[in-house]
Amino acid sequence: MQSIETPTNQHIRCEADGFEFEAITEMSLMLALKNTGFDIEASCEGSMVCGTCHVRLLSGWEALVQPARQDELDVLSSLPGVTNQSRLSCQIVITPALAGLSIEIAR
Ligand code: FES
Repeated sequence: MQSIETPTNQHIRCEADGFEFEAITEMSLMLALKNTGFDIEASCEGSMVCGTCHVRLLSGWEALVQPARQDELDVLSSLPGVTNQSRLSCQIVITPALAGLSIEIAR
């Protein structure tokens, strides 16, 4: 019988507001932030309705994070303080390529 290997999730280090935290691949950035205890509301729990999981990618990371879809851009367009680095953290899936990701939480 042939065994099927399942990929193991990796733990990677990220940084938010100058504090390091650990995120697990395949998890959303929003969940990683909440699990670590960051003060991020995320009241719709990832349904892309509330916009309260708004973060800004720090310089250079926008090129390495998967691009936002139009429905995410639509939610972002209604939020205050949006910049070209703004993203909904519930829509960012942690991948190994994001090791060292640096963000600020929008307030
Ligand atoms: S958690 Fe509500 S939009 Fe991300």
